[in-house]
Amino acid sequence: MRIASLSDFLLQRIDRTLDAGGQRQPVNRQIYQVLREAVWSHALPVGLQLPSSRYLALELGVSRNTVTYAYEQLISEGYLETRAGSGTFVADTVPDRIAGAANAAPAVPPSRDEVGLSQRGARLVGQAGVNNVQWGAFMPGIPDVTLFPNKIWSRLQNKHWRRSRAELLTYADAGGYLPLREAIANYLRVARSVNCSAGQVLITTGIHQSMDLAARLLGDHGERAWVEDPCYWGTRSVLQSIGIETVPIPVDGEGMQMRPADLLQPPRFIIVTPSHQYPLGTVMSLSRRRTLLDYAATQRAWIIEDDYDSEFRYASRPLPSLQGMDAQERVLYMGTFSKTMFPGLRVGYLVVPKALAPVFGTGLSELYRGGQTFNQAILADFMVEGHFASHIRRMRMLYAERLHLLRDAIAQHFGGSVATTGGEAGLHLALCLPQDCDDLAICQEAARQGLTVRPLSRYYMDARSARRGLMLGYAAVPSEQIGPAFARLAAIIRAYWPAGAAPLPTS
Ligand SMILES: Cc1ncc(COP(=O)(O)O)c(C=O)c1O
Repeated sequence: MRIASLSDFLLQRIDRTLDAGGQRQPVNRQIYQVLREAVWSHALPVGLQLPSSRYLALELGVSRNTVTYAYEQLISEGYLETRAGSGTFVADTVPDRIAGAANAAPAVPPSRDEVGLSQRGARLVGQAGVNNVQWGAFMPGIPDVTLFPNKIWSRLQNKHWRRSRAELLTYADAGGYLPLREAIANYLRVARSVNCSAGQVLITTGIHQSMDLAARLLGDHGERAWVEDPCYWGTRSVLQSIGIETVPIPVDGEGMQMRPADLLQPPRFIIVTPSHQYPLGTVMSLSRRRTLLDYAATQRAWIIEDDYDSEFRYASRPLPSLQGMDAQERVLYMGTFSKTMFPGLRVGYLVVPKALAPVFGTGLSELYRGGQTFNQAILADFMVEGHFASHIRRMRMLYAERLHLLRDAIAQHFGGSVATTGGEAGLHLALCLPQDCDDLAICQEAARQGLTVRPLSRYYMDARSARRGLMLGYAAVPSEQIGPAFARLAAIIRAYWPAGAAPLPTS
């Protein structure tokens, strides 16, 4: 392009440059944008001298300041450059070759195959278990957040804002806010028989982060972790995404059932949910606990205990943690406030053996640069003032009632012909279906009808052993909606009930 035509080029475009709201942008902004695009696309070649701001302003019929603004902005961003005594030139920002390739790039967004995910990334996204719907009948694992005592929280929050100390507003200390670590240690010692002091408790953003930290600090790429089969999808995803190989170990009525062949190949990690197996709900027997602890100690494997919801046990007292039985310091214990408070809080804790505490504190800060100390201070007060314990007590009673209503609804529609598992504790139960029943199709149809249900088979790593069933959360379903919502689900189950299975009673 010859310099003589630059003013025409600008005049044509400036008039038509309207912003998204249909408003004309300031002229200095329009000149800047047109020139920037022209330089980027090489419509103005590298080295081209631009007219002086005075000349261009006259040609365009604008003030000189208007052009100067555009030139200066483009110079500061590197699109134009000035050469002492000679004027303003198009800068050599991008080698021609690369700019050419960029021009040739398709205008449409790349498909997933083209976005260049790593193998780990593709696997993570391909098998993702996360669901965008996080509320409503029968979303598993969600507490009734509408009953959270907001007023108490807001009073505590105001108290801290009034005092607003710098330490609450900067990055977190290694390990998190000390008074919260103390409150958690006190709570865990009493309620979960966890052997710990505050120094061993690290505040994380939840179990996902606790697991990520533990696996990164203690495991190397390619090392193996035994995981329960079935297990929580998050466990599998976190471990695999950092290169830890997950080895499925079946679960029976006593918990993780190691076979002789498994014992011959010791893993680096053993990930278990001993108090309430996820998703089947079994409790690990004492003899399995002992076997696991002895095995981990002799093989120098790390047990990672996921104690995600054992505060909610309805028929008996919550069972003590596996960590509390460990004399060899091989257990890392993970807990969360996602179920006892609300999931959006994103606060959990990791209790590590004494010897690991300092390095884990450093690792936590180094990797995630923790914050949220302000929320941690509110939570500490919430616990110390007794609101945490009373909220759990209140919710436990309510969830027990909802569980009862769900059980009644199941019995009303199916009598004894459909078994359930895992309904003694937690926030969900699993409804067992015949092996030739398509639990995924039921869930898809349920979703079309506004019900959120998870297929049990999707929690298995080994498709051959996958049991069919439905995961039903009841905690977050208002009591009066449980019966009607289950009636809708029962109709869908009937429609998908396999012809060869024992017939369901007519409702
Ligand atoms: C077994 C299990 N572990 C961990 C989590 C997630 O915990 P967090 O919200 O603290 O990451 C869940 C959530 O449902 C779970 O079921």
